[in-house]
Amino acid sequence: MSVSSPSGGSERSESAEAQRAKADRQLDKTPAKISGMFDAIAGRYDLLNTVLSGGLDRYWRRRAIATLQLTGSERLLDVCTGTADVAIGAARGGAARIVGVDFSGVMLVHGLEKIRHAALGPRVNLVRGDAMSLPVASASVDAATIAFGIRNVQQPDVACRELHRVLRPGGRLAILEFGLPVIPAVRPLYLWYFNHVLPRIGRAVSKHDAAYTYLPESVGTFQFGDAFARILSDAGFSQVRHKPLALGIVYLYTGQKPSGT
Ligand SMILES: C[S@@+](CC[C@H](N)C(=O)[O-])C[C@H]1O[C@@H](n2cnc3c(N)ncnc32)[C@H](O)[C@@H]1O
Repeated sequence: MSVSSPSGGSERSESAEAQRAKADRQLDKTPAKISGMFDAIAGRYDLLNTVLSGGLDRYWRRRAIATLQLTGSERLLDVCTGTADVAIGAARGGAARIVGVDFSGVMLVHGLEKIRHAALGPRVNLVRGDAMSLPVASASVDAATIAFGIRNVQQPDVACRELHRVLRPGGRLAILEFGLPVIPAVRPLYLWYFNHVLPRIGRAVSKHDAAYTYLPESVGTFQFGDAFARILSDAGFSQVRHKPLALGIVYLYTGQKPSGT
C-alpha cells in the first residue's frame, strides 16, 4: 500500500476519516512488531532522519520544545523517546528533569549513549515502557512531548488519555507527527518522493526491508490535523491547536491539561 492523496485534515469528510481509521487498524501495530522494527533500525535511525528530512527534523523538535515555554524548573516526560533527541533538546532548552519512555530497548541504548556523551545523565533518565500504559505517576509531570511516535501507537486515544493522566493540572503538551502537504499542487510531488524515493533510501541505508515502507503507510492512515486535534480534546486537553510545519509535511499539536482537573 502507498499513500494516496486524501484531502487535508480539515477538509476530509467523516467517511474518509472512517476509511483511514479502518486502514490504520489493518496495519500491524502490535508492540512486538513495532518495537522489533525500531530495534532493527536503531543504529541508522538518526542518520536516516537527517538524510530523509534534510536536517529539518531538528528544527521541528526545537519548535515543539519552544512551545512549552520551559523556565528551568519543569519535570518533562518524553513519550516514544527513541534515541532521546527531544529529551536531550528539552534538557538543553530549560527542563530541570526529563524522563524518556519507549518500548524499543535498542533505541533506548542509543539514546543513553547520547545522553552520556552530552553529560546529561543526572537530569535525563530513560525507562522502557508502553505509551498506552505509562510507568509514571498521575499528575507528576509539568510538560509532555511525543515526536513522530503517536502514529505508531496501536490506540492513539488511549495514549492521549495517559498523557492527560500523568500531566499536572495546567501542564502543557506538544506532539509532532507527520501529515501531508496542505497545498494541492505540492502534494503529488511529495507523495512521489514519500512513496518511491524515501523507501529506497531507507532500505539501502537501514538494510531493513519493511521499515521505510511502513513509514509512508503509517502516515497515510494516520488521522492528522483536525481529526487528531479532536482526539486530544476528547482526552481532556484544552486550548488544543495544530499548526502545519513545512507546508503540512509535519503538524505540531499543542494543548494543556485544564487547571483544577
Ligand atoms: C519514529 S520514532 C521517534 C523517536 C523520537 N521521538 C524522535 O523524535 O526521533 C518512534 C518511536 O516510538 C516508539 N514507540 C512506538 N509505539 C510505542 C508505544 N506504544 N510505546 C512506547 N514506545 C513506542 C518506537 O519504539 C520508536 O522508538
